[in-house]
Amino acid sequence: MLRLSLLLIAVSVLFECSDKKDSANDNAIEETKLDRQWWKEGTLYQIYPQSFKDSDGDGYGDFRGIFDELDYLESLGITAVWMNPFFESPMVDNGYDVADYRAIHPRYGTMQDFQEMINGMKERGIKFVLDVVVNHSSDQHKWFQSAKKSRDSEYRGYYHWWPAEKGEPPYRYSLFDPEGGWDYVEETDAYYLHTFAEAQPDLNWENPKLRQEVYDIMKFWAEKGVDGFRMDAFQFASKDTTYPEFPDGYESEFIKYHGLRPQLHGYLKEMYLEVLKPYNVYAVAEGAGSTFEDAHDLVDADREELQVAYHFDYVDMSKTPDGYELSEFKEVFTRWDSAFAKEGWIAIFLSNHDNARLVNRFGDTRPAYRTLSAQMLNTFLLSMRGTPYTYYGDELGMTNIDMLTIEEYVDIDAIGKYEAAVTKGEDIEEFMKVLNYSSRENGRTPMQWNDSKNAGFTVGKPWKPINPNYREVNVAEQNKNPKSVLNHFRKMTRLRNEKLVLVYGDYDLIAPEHEQVYAYTRTLENEQVLVLLNFTDQMAELTLPNEMEVGEVLISNYANEVVGNGGKAQLAPYQAVILKTD
Ligand code: NOJ
Repeated sequence: MLRLSLLLIAVSVLFECSDKKDSANDNAIEETKLDRQWWKEGTLYQIYPQSFKDSDGDGYGDFRGIFDELDYLESLGITAVWMNPFFESPMVDNGYDVADYRAIHPRYGTMQDFQEMINGMKERGIKFVLDVVVNHSSDQHKWFQSAKKSRDSEYRGYYHWWPAEKGEPPYRYSLFDPEGGWDYVEETDAYYLHTFAEAQPDLNWENPKLRQEVYDIMKFWAEKGVDGFRMDAFQFASKDTTYPEFPDGYESEFIKYHGLRPQLHGYLKEMYLEVLKPYNVYAVAEGAGSTFEDAHDLVDADREELQVAYHFDYVDMSKTPDGYELSEFKEVFTRWDSAFAKEGWIAIFLSNHDNARLVNRFGDTRPAYRTLSAQMLNTFLLSMRGTPYTYYGDELGMTNIDMLTIEEYVDIDAIGKYEAAVTKGEDIEEFMKVLNYSSRENGRTPMQWNDSKNAGFTVGKPWKPINPNYREVNVAEQNKNPKSVLNHFRKMTRLRNEKLVLVYGDYDLIAPEHEQVYAYTRTLENEQVLVLLNFTDQMAELTLPNEMEVGEVLISNYANEVVGNGGKAQLAPYQAVILKTD
C-alpha cells in the first residue's frame, strides 16, 4: 500500500514537472563542446549506512535495510549513492578507522548483502561511490599491528615514524587528539604520526609498496561494480617526511604544511593509470588544497589525476548559533565557481556526516519556515554548477537534535574538543551551546521513515536517539503531501536530470550586494534559466537586469506570480523559483 502511494506521488510529481520536450531540446545541444560525464550530470545521495534503515533489529542500519528502500532511492531521482565506510573497523571514528579494507563490518551485513544491494541500485540506474580511507588506517589493521612491534617489519614503511633516539618530534597539530599528532610506541621506542585520532595512524604515501596496496584495494572494489571513489582526507596524503618544525602562522596554510606535497600529483597520475582509467571509474577528493591552483592541479582533466574536488570554505561559515552572512555565502560559491569555470569540476554540498543539518545552519527551523527554507536550500543545491551531493534526510528537511550534556555524545571529535576546552579553561556552558548547534552528531541521527516507534528506522534500540520531531518530519507523511520538502526535492532532481543547462550552463551572479536574495542565471548556448532564492523570512524585492525578460516558471515553492511590471521580482519568505528567460 505504502509502495503504491509512493509510486502515485512520484508519478504525479513527474507530470507536474516541466515538460519533457525540453529535455529533448537539451540533448540536441551541441554535445561536442561539453565533456559529458555521468559524474558531472549525476545527482548524488549520501547514505550514512548505520543511520539509514535497520533490517535485523540490532539498532544499526545495514545493507538489507538499504536494499529494502531501493524503490525510495529511485523515487528521489538521484543517480548515484555515496556511502560512508562500512569496512571492518573498531569504530573509534565510526568506520573512518579501517582494520581490513576488503572485509565488511558485520553490523552492515555480508559481502553478498553488499553485492545484492549494489546490483539492485544498478538495476535502477543508480551508481555507487565508495569511501576510500587511505590517508590513515586503524591502529588495529594488521599492517600497523606488525609495524609497531618491530622496526624490521615488512609494514614498518607503511607508516610515518620518528625514532626516539632523535629526541621528541617537533609539535604537530592533530585534528582529533588534543595532545598532538605524534604518539609514542614502547615496543619499538618510536613515535608515529596521526593527523586524526591516536587510533588512526597516517599511511606513508611516499612508499611505493603502500601505494600499490591502495590501488589493489581500489581494484578489488571496482571489480565488485563500484563506479567511483571518494578519497577521504586526501589533502593530508603525501607529507614532508623530514617532519620539520612548522613556521609561525603556518595555520593559515594548514594543508600546505600537513600534506599535499607536490609529488602527490605523480602518485595520483599513477592511480589514474592503474585504477581509474582501466576500470572507467572516477574519484572525488575530500578537500581542494589551500589555493585554487592546488584545486585545479588535482582535478584539471588534462592532467589525468582526480576528477572532482570539494572545498571547505563554506563549511566554516555558520559554525555557531550566530549564523552567517548571505554576502559571504554568495561570495564563496561564486569564487569557487569562477575557479572551475574552465577547467576541472566541483562538488556542491551544504551538509554531510561532518556537519550539522542544513536547515539549522542556513535555513529556518521554525514550523512556519522549515519546509520552505529546506525547499529553498535544496533548490540552490540542485541548480548550481557542480555535482550536487544531498545528505540523507535533507530531502525531508531533517533538523538538528538537542544534546545538552557531554555524556550524550559518542563522537570522538566532540569528545576531543570538549577535553581540549576543559584543559584550556574555556567557558564550558558556552562551549556546550556551540557544540549542541554545530556537532556533526546532529547530522547522524536515524532516518525518519514514518511516525511509528523509532520512526520506522529499527524495531530494536537505535544506536543514536531519533529526533523527536519524527512524528511530523518523515517520509510517509511527506509522500502524501505534494507540497512537502520531499516532493519539491523530487521535482528538482527531475528538472536537473532533464536540463543540461543546470549541469553545464555558465553561472552568473545577479545583484551580488542584495541582502536577502541569492540570484543567478545559468546559460548554455541559447538557453538560460534564472534562479531566485530568498534566504530570509521577509518579503524581498529584486530588480532584474534591464534587458532580462522572464518566461515560464520551471519550479517554485509558492504558487504566486513572481515577476511583475517593470522587471521587479517579489519573493515571499524563503521563496525559491527557477524561471526560463526569453
Ligand atoms: C573525513 C571524514 O569525513 C570524517 O568523518 C573523518 O572523521 C575524518 N576524515 C577522518 O577519517
